[in-house]
Amino acid sequence: MCGIIGYVGPSDSTPILLACLKKLEYRGYDSSGVGVLDHHSHLIVRKSKGKIKNLEEVLKGEPLPFSNVGISHTRWATHGLPTDINAHPHVNNAGTIAVVHNGIIENYAPLREKLKKQGCYFVSQTDTEVIAHLISVLYKGDLKQAVQKAIAQLKGAFAIAVISKDHPDLMIAARVGSPLIIGLGDKENYIASDVPAILDRTRRVIYLKDGQMAVITMDKVDVFTFAGQKVTPKVDTVSFTVSAAQKEGYDHFMLKEIHEQPQGLANMLKNRLPSGKLNLEGLDVSDKVLASVKKITVIACGTAYHAGLVGKYIIEDLARLTTEVDTSSEFRYRNAIIDKHTLVVAVSQSGETADTLAAVREAKAKGAKIISICNVVGSSLARESDGVLYTHAGLEIGVASTKAYTAQLMMFYLLGIKLAQVRQTAKPARLKDLIKQLQRVPDHQKSLLEQKAAILKIAEANSHFGCFLYLGRNINYPTALEGALKLKEISYIPAEGYAAGEMKHGPIALIDEYRAVVCVAVQSHVYEKMISNIQEIRARKGNVIAVATQGDKDIAHHVDYVLTVPAIDELLTPLLAIIPLQLMAYYVAVKRGNDVDQPRNLAKSVTVE
Ligand code: G6P
Repeated sequence: MCGIIGYVGPSDSTPILLACLKKLEYRGYDSSGVGVLDHHSHLIVRKSKGKIKNLEEVLKGEPLPFSNVGISHTRWATHGLPTDINAHPHVNNAGTIAVVHNGIIENYAPLREKLKKQGCYFVSQTDTEVIAHLISVLYKGDLKQAVQKAIAQLKGAFAIAVISKDHPDLMIAARVGSPLIIGLGDKENYIASDVPAILDRTRRVIYLKDGQMAVITMDKVDVFTFAGQKVTPKVDTVSFTVSAAQKEGYDHFMLKEIHEQPQGLANMLKNRLPSGKLNLEGLDVSDKVLASVKKITVIACGTAYHAGLVGKYIIEDLARLTTEVDTSSEFRYRNAIIDKHTLVVAVSQSGETADTLAAVREAKAKGAKIISICNVVGSSLARESDGVLYTHAGLEIGVASTKAYTAQLMMFYLLGIKLAQVRQTAKPARLKDLIKQLQRVPDHQKSLLEQKAAILKIAEANSHFGCFLYLGRNINYPTALEGALKLKEISYIPAEGYAAGEMKHGPIALIDEYRAVVCVAVQSHVYEKMISNIQEIRARKGNVIAVATQGDKDIAHHVDYVLTVPAIDELLTPLLAIIPLQLMAYYVAVKRGNDVDQPRNLAKSVTVE
């Protein structure tokens, strides 16, 4: 993970670096640092463990001098504890070269040994520090050449930015695997891990490609291949806007984002179903191909993977098309059976998840067509896919994904309907009815959010439990997985999601009066089966919180607490059932005093394997 920002221009770099760096905090927040070159050719570095606000405190005590060139970094630890020393930038022993890095240097151990023999001493436990020493030993007066020689020895994924006191007018950037963009300003230029970080400064960007490096000064950007060949980069003008990252009166971004779901879905339906007719602009796969495809493979991580699991039920039901779902990290190493008759659907909020990108490349190499369901416009995934269905859910800042999830679900419903139309696998009347019911989802979600006081009470009454089990069946089995993920991500309470039918094969051993069991028991063809499972839990003294359909008078007799959702077609229930579970996780985490938006050890975008 980690986020990188670099600046070269006429202004003082430090305030600019910090302002941009804060927009990258979603990538990691266990430590941060900044390195600048002042007007007397000094390289000065400040670092701090913890969030960027800690670095700001350090800088208040020890301000940096005015500088026109600087690099900065927010870290998500891979090698070495989150300490001041392990924070980036890392410098060579002479203190003349500084490096920030996003990625993992896989051969750092042998390089470290080799560099030690050459007289370098290491102060941190990071893999990054080898890069600073390596550049240093290879430096013979030409920084670009030294960086080029150093990266030729690196294995793994990296995006780096390098500055040197001997070259006070430039910075060097290079990437393989990890994202890096260059922002082109007016007599000033930037490096950033993603576009939104610099969007309020410039909209003209170069997406540095794998195997490319750049030498950047105030008024010039030269891009080269690692072999040293100069290339003419494509300059893109980014048209999307990033909504102001404000909490707008909410205590946390997560709560704000939960509340943004009805409007987000309403916007999506307005764009995608103008006058009830489906518009999947961006799909860029012909009806002919959609009609003839033999299999769909969904690849994704985390919450997006859970959206993919719901997608399987939707597509198999509506389009009668075999759909397999895999986590990207498993898919990429399992020699999956994929060919040109497979349509791969990659799902990712950020579009930068390293495993998902690698899985897509693997599938592409095997001849599959790739479409992505993606939130961040212009992301690496979007650029590498044959077609992109943007969810346009807006900037999601809370690390625990909420509004991106329901937007991904909605896109799967629309895709399922599209596939069913071209494959003629569902009656038009059925699809028409589903569309009608989908259009009511935003209002249903609004009514659910109005019940938040009741959900808060239930959350507070159960926040003391040390272990939660989430059970669901059929299309709400993924809802159980996602509900459990939300709770564990932000409350740190062990929470396990399970297919209710599997309960007897293990999880039932966990149940006693000290466990809370959340059962998604909305009206469906498996409702009775869920009730039987609930009885089995009650017989073992488990505390049951049910998510049930409004008007279900019976369920209260079987459970301790009921969270109700409006009645809707069974296939669409995941769009509603997840809302009370998101809120419950949120309130439990708040009650426990946790940092909801930046939970420990997590990052919003996982850009390392
Ligand atoms: C991280 C985030 C999750 C997210 C997952 C996949 O783990 O904390 O919220 O679901 O990455 O991210 P993506 O951007 O690919 O959807």
